[in-house]
Amino acid sequence: MVRVTYIGHSCILVASNGTQVLIDPFIEGNPLAKPPTRGFHPKLILVTHAHRDHLGDTIAISKKSKAKVLTTVDLASYLSAKGVDTIAANFGGKVPFDFGWVKLWPAIHSSTTPDGVVLGMAASFVVSIGGKSIYHAGDTSLTSDMELIGEEKPIDLACLPIGGTYTMGIDDAVKAVGMIKPRVVIPIHYGTFENIKVDPEEFSSKVEKAGFRTKTVILSPGEQLELP
Ligand code: NI
Ligand code: MN
Repeated sequence: MVRVTYIGHSCILVASNGTQVLIDPFIEGNPLAKPPTRGFHPKLILVTHAHRDHLGDTIAISKKSKAKVLTTVDLASYLSAKGVDTIAANFGGKVPFDFGWVKLWPAIHSSTTPDGVVLGMAASFVVSIGGKSIYHAGDTSLTSDMELIGEEKPIDLACLPIGGTYTMGIDDAVKAVGMIKPRVVIPIHYGTFENIKVDPEEFSSKVEKAGFRTKTVILSPGEQLELP
């Protein structure tokens, strides 16, 4: 069984068989974030890109929990210069782990560090863990590449940004669902800031109206979803 915790914004914790994978840990800087109060020990951190609301507390958490950080080669070299234990990969690359694998896909988005280092393109991830396949889109616009993501292995859960302004908004995210065809979708990257305040129920009803065989689950920060 795979348990997914929505910590808030784009931060997701995936747990299976005692292994925790943390994605885009924007926690300390997000007053709305609800991290687990106990049993929080990620062994791997995935970072889609260097923006503050995704890189977040990566450096502090990785040093504290001895978690490795898997990200693009560009962000990995920036982080390893700061003493972080990194795994560098790039688009199309699939990195094996004892729990499964992680594959990097491009996201249509930029990646500049909080201190102004321009690192190029942002990533998104497919995580294969506990027999399930989870797609975390990071920050992205809609792109027809999304048709390809579920071809290799059907996606059980997709985490898609819906807030607009910096990423695709609700209508484009609904189109993304049609291309990725996940069993379940959870909306992310909305509500955190004034300019990404949208109604996730509107996303949910538009996905339903489109007739896709995808179930929308809206999680509040701190809530969990189990993939049986
Ligand atoms: Ni961003
Ligand atoms: Mn963002």
